[in-house]
Amino acid sequence: MKIGILTAGGDAPGLNAAIRAVTGAALACGDEVIGVHDGWGGLMRDGHVVELGRAEVASILPLGGTILGASSTCDPLMVEGGIDQVAATVRGLGLDAIVAIGGDGTLRIASVFAEMGLPVTAIPKTIDNDLSGTDYCLGFDSAVAVVVEALDRLHTTAASHHHVMVIEVMGRDTGWLAVNGGIAGGADMIIIPEFPVSLDDLVNHLHRRRDGGADCSLVVVAEGADLGSLKLLRSGDAEDVERIEHFRMGMRGVGERLASLVERTTKIPTRATVLGRTQRGGMPTAHDRIWATRVGVAAHRFAREGRFGCMPVVRESRIAEAQIADVAMKNVVPREWYELARVFF
Ligand code: F6P
Repeated sequence: MKIGILTAGGDAPGLNAAIRAVTGAALACGDEVIGVHDGWGGLMRDGHVVELGRAEVASILPLGGTILGASSTCDPLMVEGGIDQVAATVRGLGLDAIVAIGGDGTLRIASVFAEMGLPVTAIPKTIDNDLSGTDYCLGFDSAVAVVVEALDRLHTTAASHHHVMVIEVMGRDTGWLAVNGGIAGGADMIIIPEFPVSLDDLVNHLHRRRDGGADCSLVVVAEGADLGSLKLLRSGDAEDVERIEHFRMGMRGVGERLASLVERTTKIPTRATVLGRTQRGGMPTAHDRIWATRVGVAAHRFAREGRFGCMPVVRESRIAEAQIADVAMKNVVPREWYELARVFF
């Protein structure tokens, strides 16, 4: 059979390992593999593809990014004629199966195409780890490792200067990365979209730590934390109302602004560090390589068995099957996870 692979949405460590896994499994069965460039956009442009053989995937296992390229902005469902263009390309290339590797946006698109009858299966990927129906999304472990290394480094410099460090991590909608990175890196406060923290509580906590002899504090904030609704505001502070509106609008910059608010309120020198794209770049961890291999080989099996509209997921350390549309839903951090982190602040 002829299998097309695409990677869409934000890149994440482990994408290449997944491409290699699908390709390796396919070639071993005598299947043909076509890599589609730049996500769904590649399926809207004839010929924007590459044949994947052993040579193309030979040394990509440890590589970050994606050799196929990824577009986080192209949604064929939103482009006039986009659906027909994709269907025509799939027909034109003679694809018997498409493996879409991506997060919620990619999977939402994949599920619509599957409902329309295209032979689509998928692989869960996002450093946010916030897809439903799967315990794990490719890229998450590698991103957590970046956060932990940053916290470890920032800890020593913060302690030397008795500073508060605000570390902004990714997590547009959910706080999995902030909570896991924060727990593993010993954060003294974690602020995520799911659970409100008041400025008073944060300030009191930082003062209490200082009075108790702590030489520094690490505050992890997810970029999607809505500081307006998180009540990181004292009543009557008109200037901050304006700033906080800005937080909500811009999302990015939450770390910098929180740091200046903390410094102004506590009078403790406070610095912000935005980890940004460092969390998405670089080599995948062994964990990501192993899961990329497991779900990649499983996705090829799904394609061979004609199990379209569904996809392999991770449940209790095993491969399970889920509907693509169900996996595309958001999975937020449950209270017990946040409570675990809160034991330490
Ligand atoms: O979806 C993954 C993610 O890491 C989000 O947490 C974040 O908001 C987004 O990517 C940022 O992507 P970009 O830099 O492309 O806007």
